[in-house]
Amino acid sequence: MGNAIVFDNVRKSYGQKAVIPNLNLSIAEGTITVLVGPSGCGKTTTMKMINQLIQPSSGKIYVNGSNALDISPVELRRNIGYVIQQVGLFPHMTIEENVTLVPRLKKQAGEVNREQVDRMLQLVGLNPDEYRHRYPRELSGGQQQRVGVARALMSDPPIVLMDEPFSALDPITREQLQDELIRLNQELNKTIVFVTHDMDEALKIADQIIVMQDGHVIQQSTPEQILRHPANEFVRGFIGEKRLTSHLTQSVDEVMVKHPVTIAPQKGLAEAVKMMVRKRVTGLIVVDKDGTYLGLADSADIHARYPEESLSIRDVMRADAAVVNVSTPLAETIPLVQQAPYGYVPVVDDLGRLRGLLTRASLVDVLARPYLEGGEEHE
Ligand SMILES: Nc1ncnc2c1ncn2[C@@H]1O[C@H](COP(=O)(O)OP(=O)(O)OP(=O)(O)O)[C@@H](O)[C@H]1O
Ligand SMILES: [Mg+2]
Repeated sequence: MGNAIVFDNVRKSYGQKAVIPNLNLSIAEGTITVLVGPSGCGKTTTMKMINQLIQPSSGKIYVNGSNALDISPVELRRNIGYVIQQVGLFPHMTIEENVTLVPRLKKQAGEVNREQVDRMLQLVGLNPDEYRHRYPRELSGGQQQRVGVARALMSDPPIVLMDEPFSALDPITREQLQDELIRLNQELNKTIVFVTHDMDEALKIADQIIVMQDGHVIQQSTPEQILRHPANEFVRGFIGEKRLTSHLTQSVDEVMVKHPVTIAPQKGLAEAVKMMVRKRVTGLIVVDKDGTYLGLADSADIHARYPEESLSIRDVMRADAAVVNVSTPLAETIPLVQQAPYGYVPVVDDLGRLRGLLTRASLVDVLARPYLEGGEEHE
């Protein structure tokens, strides 16, 4: 997996003041990378240099391997979707007209692909038949945010920049959109760069978190690593002390997903695919009829073999993937989950029966729980 975005000694100054003195960072393809840091530390400036809304004073920025300055701004923005905090829908245009704005500016109106509009609206959880012809004022704030995301994805850009896109929303809508974003990233394999003030949001959605201060990267790592090994006092303070302590006292049983989606080994591949689509999961846990765990069938493995009609799940599952016993101390399971090829690890009892599933998300929740209960705010 290559890097979608690389900053090489990037400097941005306004007059005498260097708001970004010397920035180096790499953002891997297909990941959700979240920039966090105090107000004014340079997050938006960093984002806008990626799509050249702001020009760096010096240094190089590479987008998909090419020097961003060699790519025309128009071309660059076609490859980079951008979602801003104040959605920016045009009130006098319908949802469909808003979503198709960028492609319509580039082409003849007739060429806009109707199916693509429907697909995008469906992706963000809006029924196209219901919403296509409405105006923004006829949508809730959360629905408008969804349209903003659909618009940014419309021309299928490999990179999407999102600057505090959900900050104006109520907590429930916000959680829904975070879940959608994680799903979109998994389904479409986009590189997403996301800015937030909200550490909970960062911990939930990020593959990588970049903590910034005064235009510098203080730490770049996975949510788990940042929680477990904050680089310095600033990062500790930003995460919040409560989050950092006593986060591993729970048992596997308490945090695992209790009813993972299972499938019997003799089922065919078409049936497995249907089940994954219906349950919105990327993998199935294979169990026999008395509940004994047999293996993992991930969508990648199933799709690779899909045309072979005679195959059953038993033929494509992985029987050798790591499993944990339900009595394992939680701390010991973290590296297993991090290294698991699909990001999840089945939990079994002493008799080998499936009890649940440990996922990255379930562990991140545990790590953040002391903080969530504390209700402390960090700006
Ligand atoms: N056009 C400008 N002229 C001078 N200074 C600027 C300009 N634009 C931004 N700055 C300064 O650059 C710094 C970084 O701004 P930026 O918008 O990147 O911060 P941010 O991390 O996104 O903050 P916030 O969390 O408040 O959105 C700030 O100190 C800001 O005042
Ligand atoms: Mg900003």
